[in-house]
Amino acid sequence: MKRLKLMIPGPIEVAPEVLRPMSEPLEAHYGAEWTSFYRRVIEAIRKVFKTRGRVFLLVGSGSAGLDAAICSTVGDGGRILVLQNGFFGERIAEIARSYTPHVEVLRFPWGEAVYPERVEEALRRRPTDVVAVVHCETSTGVLNPVEELGRVCSRHGALLVVDAISTLGIEPLEMDRWGIGICVAASQKGLEAPPGLAPVAVSEEAWEFISRRESPGWYLNLKVWHRYEESWGSWHPHPVTHAVNNVKALWKGLERIFAEGLEARFRRHREVAQHLRRGLEGLGLQPAIPEMIASHGVTAVEVPGGQVDRLLQTLREEHGYLLAGSLGEWRGRVFRVGHMGPNATLPVIDALLEAIRWSLKEFR
Ligand SMILES: Cc1ncc(COP(=O)(O)O)c(C=O)c1O
Repeated sequence: MKRLKLMIPGPIEVAPEVLRPMSEPLEAHYGAEWTSFYRRVIEAIRKVFKTRGRVFLLVGSGSAGLDAAICSTVGDGGRILVLQNGFFGERIAEIARSYTPHVEVLRFPWGEAVYPERVEEALRRRPTDVVAVVHCETSTGVLNPVEELGRVCSRHGALLVVDAISTLGIEPLEMDRWGIGICVAASQKGLEAPPGLAPVAVSEEAWEFISRRESPGWYLNLKVWHRYEESWGSWHPHPVTHAVNNVKALWKGLERIFAEGLEARFRRHREVAQHLRRGLEGLGLQPAIPEMIASHGVTAVEVPGGQVDRLLQTLREEHGYLLAGSLGEWRGRVFRVGHMGPNATLPVIDALLEAIRWSLKEFR
């Protein structure tokens, strides 16, 4: 496979010190040494989520974490309201429908943020057990107002499930203070590691809620993960063979996050996103959504005249960059740039802008 510079919204380029443990000899996923290392990893993830709740590190991609969050809360036929303003909100509804017939969807247009007032109205009209939302809707780059949604949900006694797969480690997120019940992430974006792990954080209130449910299934049932932590905690604190090398790589990613500091990291991503926007505008390209609701890890860009595929092909073949097209309704109209982790620097963005400038020349 040709080596391309990944500037898609995940997986991202990772640092050499993160890649190194992926080629180290395998170790067992149990025993005192492994268990104490695993606990350190969990503790570090807890700090990134800013929670005192439980953290489970599932072996699987981010969707495994979402599936587990939904299975464990409404998998026994509970009621869920899914807020949708893009592809990944639709995905959550699809997962939910596989577990329960009681799925209500509140739709907002692609490219707009979710409006908390409309969520409040919906909850007043029809109370629900769980509300689910995507923090950054990666298909459009919109950042949804999760902090406000947390307040709305607590006023109405609903548990808030947040898909933070493309925001954890990139955007400010304070799980406990914002009233998030369950928060799901993935290793391959803001956590700066290869794909394959899904951290799921569960607040104390959410855990009480889950404890009362009859969740189905085994692998993605958080009660099973908890049971193993309780009963095998001293030597094997998870039910399955863990992805040992991935966990070691994730630890390196977490070390990088804490060496930089969360606040500095959020600032860097914000500055880079703003710099990219200005640069694109300078090239005559319009970001697809207003800056006020834009995330700082992914930018969606309009390309007039159906030229998206051609532009991406030129960038790939002549400049070695892999950028993403869009999904669903925005397919063919918009491309997306991922600027997360090591790629979120001004020199990286300047080099990309230069490549885009050259590519645009070819078909103007
Ligand atoms: C917001 C969001 N949710 C869910 C997913 C799915 O995650 P995964 O592909 O790791 O299962 C993605 C992946 O890009 C995402 O960006």
